[in-house]
Amino acid sequence: MGTMVKSPDATQRSAAAITYLSGFGNEQATEAVPGALPQGRNSPQRPPLGLYAEQISGTPFTAPRAANRRTWLYRIRPSAMHGPYRRIDNKLLRSAPFTEVEAPPNRLRWDPLPPPDAPTDFVDGLVTIAGNGDVGARVGVGIHQYLANRSMRDRYFWNADGEMLLVPQQGRLRLDTELGRLEAAPGEIAVVQRGIKFRVELPDGAGRGFILENYGALLRLPELGPLGANGLANPRDFQTPVADFEDRDAPVQVVVKFEGNLWASDYDHSPLDVVAWHGNYAPYKYDLARFNTIGTISFDHPDPSIFTVLTAPSDTPGTANIDFVIFPPRWLVAEDTFRPPWFHRNYMNEFVGLIHGVYDAKATGFVPGGASLHNCMSAHGPDTPTFEAASKVELKPHKIDNMLAFMFETRMVCRPTRFALETPALQRDYDACWRGFRKMFRG
Ligand SMILES: [Fe+2]
Repeated sequence: MGTMVKSPDATQRSAAAITYLSGFGNEQATEAVPGALPQGRNSPQRPPLGLYAEQISGTPFTAPRAANRRTWLYRIRPSAMHGPYRRIDNKLLRSAPFTEVEAPPNRLRWDPLPPPDAPTDFVDGLVTIAGNGDVGARVGVGIHQYLANRSMRDRYFWNADGEMLLVPQQGRLRLDTELGRLEAAPGEIAVVQRGIKFRVELPDGAGRGFILENYGALLRLPELGPLGANGLANPRDFQTPVADFEDRDAPVQVVVKFEGNLWASDYDHSPLDVVAWHGNYAPYKYDLARFNTIGTISFDHPDPSIFTVLTAPSDTPGTANIDFVIFPPRWLVAEDTFRPPWFHRNYMNEFVGLIHGVYDAKATGFVPGGASLHNCMSAHGPDTPTFEAASKVELKPHKIDNMLAFMFETRMVCRPTRFALETPALQRDYDACWRGFRKMFRG
């Protein structure tokens, strides 16, 4: 990669020694070589240093200013310089419409998927679990896992169908993107938007994690309402890469997910050749430990929407295409309250994954790397041992610690793939966790 030049407002993460810019959706300006960014205009007749100017629009040109996202790139070669894409095997990657199998009304839970036997990079290791909506109509989501043991070297990827929120569960992800390098460890997330090319390296040798592919409107911070100006995910904790580039002439493959299928094209140079950029359409990362968790200090507990990190709205007010929610360490202090999640049946559809630790609604069976899917109106909640214990426990202040779970909550039913229903990792006895509730009625 090229020399990284720190911008004046850059913040340093010492652990990874990668430099980032601070803020969510901010206008940023960064150059890996001094003088590479044109000043005062976007497209001068001859950009500095012999670079090509190019705009990438993440929203329509005419999107309202608050939602408008675009970035100007100053690169060694224009993106347009490539030959045709040809179809390649989708392997276990699937896309909307999810019609391989009928969606069952059952509650579903999976053990962690095993690592691959053969050398497998991030693209080859994509496995789709479920999803909904319509790629072409820009509504819905794909829910995937990645199971990889090899870094992408001469291979790059981009997604025309949606932005990708990456949730590493085992091993770090290092993302070399057109806009620079970022790294996400378990407990952190990274988001790479539609169209942005990137390569995934696995600094720890192997990696497993979850992916939310959001076909809809871009993820954004939720409104805070009566909470006020601060809280939940604070904007300054989001980190965007500084400009960084590869000046590399070599045969490489660029893979794109387009209308649900994978296509590949041979390039004679690295597409990560952006020397400088400015704009507000850029990948970012976020450390979930920075989430300012809000909860009750009296009784009951709020709906889990209080734990929303990012949301992608739909055209219907209050009805998200997708909410990304976490269940982080937190204090429970509610008086006269059943403290774990209550029994519930919901309009929204919930895919929950465990990153590490023990989830407070399940005593057994939900292990790190595992996941569950509770679709529209399916009845769920604490398992029998959790209910028994939480109904009797002395209600002292108690900290749920050393755990992290997340939820992709979406307005449409998540239709599982054939793989998800046929894999041995699917727990055939999941219903048993709600067996054996005693009849306690004393009427
Ligand atoms: Fe639920």
